[in-house]
Amino acid sequence: MPALTELYDEIELCQDCELARYRNRVVPGEGAENAQIMFIGEAPGFYEDQQGRPFVGAAGHFLDELLTSIGLQRSEVYICNMLKCRPPENRDPLPHEINACQKWLDRQIEVISPRVIVPLGRHAMARFFARESIGKIHGTWQKLGGVIYFAMYHPAAALHQQSLRRTIEADFQKLPQLLAQADEVAEKPSQLTMF
Ligand code: URA
Repeated sequence: MPALTELYDEIELCQDCELARYRNRVVPGEGAENAQIMFIGEAPGFYEDQQGRPFVGAAGHFLDELLTSIGLQRSEVYICNMLKCRPPENRDPLPHEINACQKWLDRQIEVISPRVIVPLGRHAMARFFARESIGKIHGTWQKLGGVIYFAMYHPAAALHQQSLRRTIEADFQKLPQLLAQADEVAEKPSQLTMF
């Protein structure tokens, strides 16, 4: 059985925090096991919880548009969230929920072994760069443990704010080149030296 399928079977059974009581569906993630780019959002929302798939609501449609704008399809990348279950009323994830769910994300990263990880929004960014602000590091890359991280604003935030929308669109356009140069970039010092 493919490693991701086995992992999904385990995630489906998770009862490690109280979000398990509220969920309709677990939303482990989806995409190619050999994806070079992995997008990490915050947590499933209403539609994701109904369908068991990440980014299928309005923010997901925008993410699809962004992918298309750089010639990629969902099936070629990997998309998941920090939390695999929807927080009630879409509230922010709580620290103990993020901690409880972290093992799943770690295993996804291990299985997929992406060249580039794109944390979407401040919560996902904070998982890797706890003391940074998304306003400062969006659209720049850093290396950590041989992986290139390229944080962006969350597509949902950009939906209601035109200026953020343009920013995330512009940041997205940098991804193909980052991917194409991933080997070279991995040899260079990070763009921001504080990490
Ligand atoms: N927002 C997220 O962070 N993830 C989803 O899957 C949907 C919306």
